[in-house]
Amino acid sequence: MKYAIIGGTGNYGAGIPNRIEIIHTEYGRVELDIIDYDGIEVAFLSRHGKSHGLPPHKINYRANMAALKKAGVEYVFATCAVGSCNKKFPVGSIVLIKDFLDFTKNRASTFFDGENGVSHVDMSDPYCTNLRSVFINKISGEKLDYKGDAVYVCTEGPRFETASEIRYYGSIGGDVVGMTNVPEVVLAKELGMCYCAVGIITNWCTGFTGEDISLHEIAGSVDKNKSTLTDIFMDIFSMELGKDNCSCKDALINL
Ligand code: HPA
Repeated sequence: MKYAIIGGTGNYGAGIPNRIEIIHTEYGRVELDIIDYDGIEVAFLSRHGKSHGLPPHKINYRANMAALKKAGVEYVFATCAVGSCNKKFPVGSIVLIKDFLDFTKNRASTFFDGENGVSHVDMSDPYCTNLRSVFINKISGEKLDYKGDAVYVCTEGPRFETASEIRYYGSIGGDVVGMTNVPEVVLAKELGMCYCAVGIITNWCTGFTGEDISLHEIAGSVDKNKSTLTDIFMDIFSMELGKDNCSCKDALINL
């Protein structure tokens, strides 16, 4: 199966699965919902578990990405609930993530711990350039409030940020803030997969408007967008994608 969707907060499924596949990896066991979409099999992985039981810093990112690779996945679309610290990106809108700033602290962030030589992965384009441009072409005319591309700040969580942290993240070029996209995108690149992430803006970040972050608001924005996004991802998976218009498969540099 070549395609996968990773659902973030509020996005725990993509239709009724045909079957559940359990994949065992050296990092742990992962459950995938396998969905049939017009004859194409798509794996759905719920990043936080099906009932949001796993906090961001406890997600087994390596098991998740190794399991997708083992299942044969080459192309991944992910959704992430994010706060906004840029007034161009209001609550309820969506953005395509183009780059990240990493403020995580305590996560296993690589498959290459030095046992088999030293490897570095190129981060010039962390998010697949081909999937990003195909996505932008596909969404015109769709019921989505797409606002453009954004720089994602990844915090360790599970606490939300302080107002001072948000002012700082905005000042260094961050647009949206979440707790999960690193190391997910990095591990995808280490495995040579094409990976693209859509941010669903669920709230203004701490201190940005003077209002408290409401969890109710977070669920509402994801609900509003998730089925349209799933349909778009499935449509894209039914296209000929190929690896000629991106550098994902060649990003790993072994020394
Ligand atoms: N900060 C960090 N992660 C988030 C936020 C936020 O404001 N909203 C949704 N995920």
